[in-house]
Amino acid sequence: MIEVNSLSKAFKEVKAVDNISFTVKSGEIVGLLGENGAGKTTTLRILATMLKPTGGTAKVNGFDILTEDSKVRSQIGILFGGEVGLYDRLTARENIRYFAMLNGLSKEETKENIDELVKALEMEEYIDRRVGKFSRGMKQKVAIARSIVHNPKVMLFDEPTMGLDVTAARIVQNFIFNCKEQNKSIIFSSHSMVEVEKLCDRVIIINKGKIVESGTINELKQKYNNKDLEEVFISLIGGDTRDK
Ligand SMILES: Nc1ncnc2c1ncn2[C@@H]1O[C@H](COP(=O)(O)OP(=O)(O)OP(=O)(O)O)[C@@H](O)[C@H]1O
Ligand SMILES: [Mg+2]
Repeated sequence: MIEVNSLSKAFKEVKAVDNISFTVKSGEIVGLLGENGAGKTTTLRILATMLKPTGGTAKVNGFDILTEDSKVRSQIGILFGGEVGLYDRLTARENIRYFAMLNGLSKEETKENIDELVKALEMEEYIDRRVGKFSRGMKQKVAIARSIVHNPKVMLFDEPTMGLDVTAARIVQNFIFNCKEQNKSIIFSSHSMVEVEKLCDRVIIINKGKIVESGTINELKQKYNNKDLEEVFISLIGGDTRDK
């Protein structure tokens, strides 16, 4: 469960996140949609306790991001797109193990969890090789394993398929579905409307830090009398892009 309460973040005069509130239940995938600079990554970084809000707060499984940040971190798994930030000189296993240890897992738990993930993600061939020369897709699998090794109940995905080919993107999408089946609370941000329609139970559209609309995809399509989510999205935020 994620409960966001009047959350704001200002960078000097820029209101990156402007008084947003929403909740995400277990087993629910909520899509965060918005154009470049809308405040999606800032919101996710605040929830991940990587950034302090300038107003409001949020609770992750009942733990407050302001006062219980280490508890919050133990509850969340993070998979952000782009450069995934692995240690090139360590093997895949060492990378995952290091992260598991940081999250307080015992040696036995770490070993068990990694063995399971290696099987599930079919990483047997390269789990003990240094990640430096890995392909993008191989690195992404290591990042996936790292994001979930501590069995978090909440998952945050920020454009997790950015730059991946269709096969690698499919692996990430299936991983997100598995997280839903495991009853995790999931926030997913993406610029791909196809992906959003495929994965999300509900979407929140943000523009210049503010929530402008939210609901299930069908609700939005009905409300705006349009079968194309992309057109609904553009009608909600598109007009603003020109007066920036
Ligand atoms: N560390 C920072 N310092 C100053 N301004 C920042 C910082 N991080 C983000 N911003 C500003 O906050 C706003 C929201 O940025 P954010 O990265 O959250 O957008 P986004 O919705 O993730 O966009 P994109 O789709 O391009 O990833 C932007 O105006 C951005 O320039
Ligand atoms: Mg972003």
